[in-house]
Amino acid sequence: MIAFELNGEPVEVAADPQMPLLWVLRENLELTGTKFGCGMALCGACTVHLNGAPIRSCVTPVAAVAGQRITTIEGLAGDTLHPVQRAWLELDVPQCGYCQSGQIMSAAALLAGHSNPTDADIDSAMAGNICRCGTYDRIRQAIHRAAALMREG
Ligand code: FES
Ligand code: FES
Repeated sequence: MIAFELNGEPVEVAADPQMPLLWVLRENLELTGTKFGCGMALCGACTVHLNGAPIRSCVTPVAAVAGQRITTIEGLAGDTLHPVQRAWLELDVPQCGYCQSGQIMSAAALLAGHSNPTDADIDSAMAGNICRCGTYDRIRQAIHRAAALMREG
């Protein structure tokens, strides 16, 4: 059994230690908000947080997160939506939506460390998250909006 914390709750899974965390989340734990895109750490669709930092769950063996804290899109909101989620809704960011949970998780990790990121900070932090629908401009605007919401408290 491999035990870790998932969205604030302890979980244990009986899985091959080398199985990618992405598949454990989607298949064993039935959390399908985290998406499979490339399987090679190239697209960002599978982004989750490991102890608050963004990781590509498609290339992370589940054994590597034993005893660690994982947050997925399902666990990002608290009692209210996360400011990134609120900004995403306000600016109507998604098009097809497939990449968006990964985009939101990368954006939330960026804002946890930068209260007022520049366009360059955003472009750098989000460079590994591909959107085939080309929503990049709205993503950048929404990150600025989320930062403002967070600064307002
Ligand atoms: S599915 Fe993990 S980076 Fe593309
Ligand atoms: S919204 Fe369609 S891939 Fe990003």
